[in-house]
Amino acid sequence: MSQEISTEKKPLVEIQDLDVFFPVKGGLSFKKHYVQAVSDMSLQIFEGETLGLVGESGCGKTTLANTVLGMIEPTKGKVFFKGNDLYALKGKEFKALRRDMQMIFQDPFSSLNPRFDILEIIGEPMRIRGGFTDEEIEKRVVELLKMVGLSESDLHRHPSDFSGGQRQRIGIARAIILNPDFLVCDEPVSALDVSVHAQILNLLLKLQKEIGMTYLFISHNLAVVKTVCDRVAVMYLGKMMEYGQTDKIFENTLHPYTKALLDAVLDVDVDNKKERHVLKGEIPSPIDPPPGCRFCKRCSRATDICSQVTPKLKEIEPGHYVACHLYDEK
Ligand SMILES: Nc1ncnc2c1ncn2[C@@H]1O[C@H](COP(=O)(O)OP(=O)(O)O)[C@@H](O)[C@H]1O
Ligand SMILES: [Mg+2]
Repeated sequence: MSQEISTEKKPLVEIQDLDVFFPVKGGLSFKKHYVQAVSDMSLQIFEGETLGLVGESGCGKTTLANTVLGMIEPTKGKVFFKGNDLYALKGKEFKALRRDMQMIFQDPFSSLNPRFDILEIIGEPMRIRGGFTDEEIEKRVVELLKMVGLSESDLHRHPSDFSGGQRQRIGIARAIILNPDFLVCDEPVSALDVSVHAQILNLLLKLQKEIGMTYLFISHNLAVVKTVCDRVAVMYLGKMMEYGQTDKIFENTLHPYTKALLDAVLDVDVDNKKERHVLKGEIPSPIDPPPGCRFCKRCSRATDICSQVTPKLKEIEPGHYVACHLYDEK
């Protein structure tokens, strides 16, 4: 071919210097207080990949996802989707772009309307979009039921007739009915019985291959992320702690917080004398956090600088970043 082909991967989603702060209501003082749910986060999600977003409950994962999906206006920073500055778009343009992003919810019990049947639930996005006949919608719903491992005979059943795993399959079918490019999976298995985790994760991987979607995969469990993600972003109290390719994060874990998360999910040999990083103490409040590393109060490796200076994200090996003073140049 005469044309030069760029091998550079394109980001489908790009987040730049994102802050999402929520004002705290009440209180006696006149000074305004804020929950810093997301603070100075930057990341890229490349076409066709799965980026994992990991961290304990309350660290800001869902807030970040909702901001990427155009649902929470950021306090500062930008979100780009397909190269467009999402929050600079208005009306029709915003709606059209937003249609290419979808979300799977954590709880398939509360996210499906119990009064609707499966045809109505899965077909709803087509009905809202408009321009389809009832026959077209039913044909597409049947096609999707088969793709997610259910059958045509399920069309007129209701959510209460299905198990948790089956309900999540229904949620997935509804999320992909309009062929989105980008799918946010927010803790898609954590409300489900452990016995069906692998089935749902395999279904998500199969659909990604078949349809060519890009995923932001959210989980508090690093073990789950290891099996499905190409790259991982580890968050703590609104901040990025470590970021890079999954194999690098697992083979050359840098941040004490990531090490502690790993120790919490891996089976540890009690005779193994390897240093363990056990997570001690409570997660501090995200309201007006002090300067310094947000993890320092719980970190076994913390020194004076950690409570004074916020560590910057540094590239330690190609494509592997950490925000920790242990890696400052001496
Ligand atoms: N709408 C909101 N108003 C005020 N605080 C919020 C709001 N949404 C989330 N938060 C707070 O922001 C922080 C991050 O929450 P969230 O994004 O749900 O975390 P995660 O998904 O990692 O569990 C939490 O302290 C939460 O209480
Ligand atoms: Mg959440």
